Amino acid sequence: MTTDFDRQFFAPGRINLIGEHIDYSGGHVFPCAITYGTTLWIKKRDDKTLRFFSKNFEEQGTIEVSLDSIEYDKADDWANYPKGVFRMLLDRGYHFDYGLDLVYEGNIPNGAGLSSSASIEVVTGAMLNEVYSLGLSMVDIALISQKAENEFVGVNCGIMDQFAVAMGKEDNAILLNTNTLEYEYIPVVLEDASIVIMNTNKRRGLADSQYNLRRAQCEKALELLQQEKNINYLCDLSVDELESLKHLITDEEMYRRAYHAVSENERTLKASKVLQENDLVAFGKLMNESHVSLRDDYEVTGIELDTLVEAAWNHPGTIGARVTGAGFGGCAIAIVENDHLNHFIEVVSQKYEKTIGYPADFYVASVGKGAHEVK
Ligand code: GLA
Repeated sequence: MTTDFDRQFFAPGRINLIGEHIDYSGGHVFPCAITYGTTLWIKKRDDKTLRFFSKNFEEQGTIEVSLDSIEYDKADDWANYPKGVFRMLLDRGYHFDYGLDLVYEGNIPNGAGLSSSASIEVVTGAMLNEVYSLGLSMVDIALISQKAENEFVGVNCGIMDQFAVAMGKEDNAILLNTNTLEYEYIPVVLEDASIVIMNTNKRRGLADSQYNLRRAQCEKALELLQQEKNINYLCDLSVDELESLKHLITDEEMYRRAYHAVSENERTLKASKVLQENDLVAFGKLMNESHVSLRDDYEVTGIELDTLVEAAWNHPGTIGARVTGAGFGGCAIAIVENDHLNHFIEVVSQKYEKTIGYPADFYVASVGKGAHEVK
């Protein structure tokens, strides 16, 4: 318990059910917020100082900066995420008359691809909006948080994570068109099944450079396609249209990248539809196909994720399983019948440890709500 603080805020982490690596190609994504997340306690100060402290990184001590000089500093480590949100708001002309003491505590496994960084950004943005009465919408807060990550921290991510963390709704997934930002809540009704998060415990080492490389390949593919087709994003195309334009992309690997984007967008639209029709079996099948596409065409999985997902596919209680998030380590998810849950975890965890040499972690996910003040 952190006492003597004025107000308390919370922002969740997220999982993505399907629609991977297409939020920067104008595709549809289908994430939901989870109940793990980041809590932020704040207290007003009389001066213009910000004092950041994280209970997860106590060894880093208190990181102190003045509201008048917020710049990226590698030494400030995790605090660059909230600092980035302050910076973006200051750049937009917002004023903060007084400083704050800020204490963060998260229970999202770190570096696991469950958006712990988006969670820190969005909880900061949501808090600033309330404490300084900025009048922003939650979508604005998501966009500002993404900008902080792109321009201040330097990771070229899409909008999915910050949007899911800001806009999540209990027991619902968000079907988000990342081109227009139109969105729709769709209930996640699993009846006798649960979502299991499977953490490879492999830190996403190369993730950022590989991520930017995939993005660049998609941008290049788009440019080539634009020679004959008037489109703004890869996901403006259907699979049939892409196939008819195949001659424009002679690099085979680049074509596979584009094929993933376009086919994943179609799968995501189908998946959101069958989920609404309560056809979990069809939903699971699309999850499996998404993993195969990310493994073979987009090549962002790797032995750890493939081992977990294949072990899950081989279990009779599994309805569907796939990587979630950026890949290259991090987490996979599986929808598993409740009767099989314990056995599933036992079997998949044994198979993983035997193949990889260290254990995976398993958590049963609950779909929670987006960023909010805790009263
Ligand atoms: C990371 C990024 C997101 C998205 C996913 C892949 O989580 O932050 O914007 O691109 O990878 O779907």
